[in-house]
Amino acid sequence: MDEKNMTEQELQKQKVYTDELKDILRLRAGGKTPLAFVHTYGCQQNVADSEKLKGMLCEMGCEMTENKEEADIIIFNTCAVREHAEDRVFGNVGALKALKRKKPSLLIALCGCMMEQEHIAEKIYKSFPYVSLVFGTHVIHRFPELVLGAVTGGKRMIERGYDDGKIYENIPVRRDGSFKGWLPIMYGCDNFCTYCIVPYVRGRERSRRPEAVLSEARDMIAAGYKEITLLGQNVNSYGKGLETDYSFARLLGEIASMNGDFQLRFMTSHPKDASRELIDVMAENPKICNHLHLPFQSGSDRILKLMNRRYTVEKYLDIVDYARSRIPDLSLTSDVIVGFPGETEEDFQGTLDLIEKVGFTSLFTFIYSRRVGTPAAKYEDNATHEEKAERMGRLLKLQEGIAAKRCADMVGRKYRVLVEEQAREGVLNARTQNNIVVEINAPDELIGSFCDVEITQARNWILRGNVANID
Ligand code: SAH
Ligand code: SF4
Ligand code: F3S
Repeated sequence: MDEKNMTEQELQKQKVYTDELKDILRLRAGGKTPLAFVHTYGCQQNVADSEKLKGMLCEMGCEMTENKEEADIIIFNTCAVREHAEDRVFGNVGALKALKRKKPSLLIALCGCMMEQEHIAEKIYKSFPYVSLVFGTHVIHRFPELVLGAVTGGKRMIERGYDDGKIYENIPVRRDGSFKGWLPIMYGCDNFCTYCIVPYVRGRERSRRPEAVLSEARDMIAAGYKEITLLGQNVNSYGKGLETDYSFARLLGEIASMNGDFQLRFMTSHPKDASRELIDVMAENPKICNHLHLPFQSGSDRILKLMNRRYTVEKYLDIVDYARSRIPDLSLTSDVIVGFPGETEEDFQGTLDLIEKVGFTSLFTFIYSRRVGTPAAKYEDNATHEEKAERMGRLLKLQEGIAAKRCADMVGRKYRVLVEEQAREGVLNARTQNNIVVEINAPDELIGSFCDVEITQARNWILRGNVANID
């Protein structure tokens, strides 16, 4: 049997469990519609996984709630990327004990990346006896079976650690947004940057078939989505391992050429694989936002080598220069790690120099966090936390000035924006293609549509604008 048939058969099995659960969950909720609370930690991959869990919960007859107190099922979808993220989960799970005491039928489940680390899953299982179900990222498609086991089996369940390398298409999805949506194009990561836990908890890199991605994109556009963000840990290596030769640039170009009023974003791009072809496709397609998230992590070649990033500062700047030459008004954002083991003042200066040279719109900044099981966890780390925090302070100050200047340069110019949400009474937040938030005075009806705004004011990195015309 080929992979497609095998995964379809598996999902059929899950459908049977789903049907069985409808009555069982309703009964446990006292004859009412069962309510589920799903909280997501971490990156957009996890958000997209949670949308699948919510899709499956809806098929089991549940409705979603934002209120833990009234929930019959509570799920935490966890992130393992830094210690801080893990600490928050431990704290928040501890706080569920009182809820479980009040409502013994409450089903508490923990899933996601943290659960794929054996020592963490075991710690959770031991420390929180009121958690009935623990499962990892590789078994999401078996969620109905796991819930059924947890509510009928009479014992706690733990299911993790098995990456079958398959892609399960057609799991139901309940998207959080009605006009902005995530579209995963690949899963896992093979890059093994030495600080990073993701390849260990997400398994090997695998790409969805282009037909599956294209058809989901078509469905989203038909459903009225105005913004689609293509997701992967390293979208530039999309296509590796597929039967046909198919690059990310081609996939992006094909979606961008579909009919409809929408725009496209993608993340994350790895600089080692960011091709000129990709930049050309961005430059040629107005539907692809002129924003590139290109994490550099460090501005020192020595540290980049220790990180196993497989590019140099020169190569990074080369792709940035090419992108800037092809895409006017391109906005660049990035991730940077401060205090990687062995980072000297000189290495850190390299990071500051790079930030100054590129002029990022914004940065996601992280102090290095030691992850058990990664190569860097064994590297000698001499700098104290105070030294790292001091470096971070200098970096943030530099970036603040750069961002403020970039925003000030936008005043007086006109931009097409997608209106996203209410900021406060009478004021809406809209986002430019190059990913900057503009506050506008406009009625709520504009939320979810495109319009043109003229930027009137920049206060640090917050922009104000006037609606120029309505599409
Ligand atoms: N796949 C993406 C990043 C995923 S993780 C990429 O390669 O660009 C998101 C960010 O978290 C990383 O870019 C990195 O800056 C940060 N990060 C990952 N592991 C970390 C660690 N151990 N300590 C601190 N920051 C880390
Ligand atoms: Fe982690 Fe590197 Fe993979 Fe990104 S590319 S997820 S930083 S190992
Ligand atoms: Fe965290 Fe997992 Fe994403 S570790 S950053 S949620 S892939």
